[in-house]
Amino acid sequence: MHRIVDIISLSAKYLKERGVPHARLNAELLLSDVLGKTRIELYLEYDKPLVERELRTLRKLLKARGAHKPLQYLLGRTEFFSLPFLIAEGVFIPRPETEILAREVINYLGTFPGTREVVVFDVGTGCGCIAVSIAHSVDKCTVYASDISPEAISLATRNAEKNRVAERVIALQGDMFEPFIACGAPKADVIVSNPPYIAEDDWDSLPDEVKCYEPPTSLIAGKEGLDFLRGIIGSAEPFLKPAGGVFLEIGEGQRDAVVHLFDAEQKYVDIRTRCDYNGIERVVTANLRHADKGRGAK
Ligand SMILES: C[S@@+](CC[C@H](N)C(=O)[O-])C[C@H]1O[C@@H](n2cnc3c(N)ncnc32)[C@H](O)[C@@H]1O
Repeated sequence: MHRIVDIISLSAKYLKERGVPHARLNAELLLSDVLGKTRIELYLEYDKPLVERELRTLRKLLKARGAHKPLQYLLGRTEFFSLPFLIAEGVFIPRPETEILAREVINYLGTFPGTREVVVFDVGTGCGCIAVSIAHSVDKCTVYASDISPEAISLATRNAEKNRVAERVIALQGDMFEPFIACGAPKADVIVSNPPYIAEDDWDSLPDEVKCYEPPTSLIAGKEGLDFLRGIIGSAEPFLKPAGGVFLEIGEGQRDAVVHLFDAEQKYVDIRTRCDYNGIERVVTANLRHADKGRGAK
């Protein structure tokens, strides 16, 4: 008999043998999805048998997961900043460390007077995780979000609706800042981006889960991985209000180069770095120099 408890063990073994990390958790999550139950319910109903249709669906998912297709693509969803997000193939999967970037922006906007309407630009929004999290946490905030990928923009729009911030997240397809110009967006208090930042030569060393399934356009950024970071730092000024902030996620080992890019522009002050959960310098922030006005100036 194919009881839930036996199927979990068999599935976990299958995934483990194929080198899938957290094999048992993956097995439980896939089975939960097939049966429409929570993980706790699986254990409460541990000796309930699966019917053939359920087994067939699970087998297909296990085969795909065993071939290292990301769990989020199989489930069609993930969590970011404790909010639910729809995920689809062809769109970058949000990473936990990006929550640090979103948190930095939210904390920064928290220093503004509560009555003030703020504007954020999110460049390369993907599924909209940063844009939606900021809009969800900061009431008087409108986020303009761009992405080159139409699939990403469609998903970001749905995620804004799902999290009830659709009227304050404006997701626009296009290159970098172009859609903001085209739609006549006002200047921003903050430009935030988790842009592609993988160096071309590092592509081969990425895990299969990433390089076989996630879109290369969301990852690769020229020879040193700095093309997008350089582009944003170099073109941000006309889009920012006086003393506006730039908040960027960076790759491991890119901190010095990115600080140098900010310094070389000679218009940024207060350049700071934040580490991720593994102690890797992951976020660099800076403000436009504006001698007579401080943070939050109009
Ligand atoms: C690393 S992903 C980040 C996605 C999302 N912000 C996140 O943190 O999960 C980079 C995103 O930049 C987008 N992108 C790549 N080139 C772009 C361009 N020229 N203009 C706008 N977005 C671009 C990709 O489609 C991708 O969604």
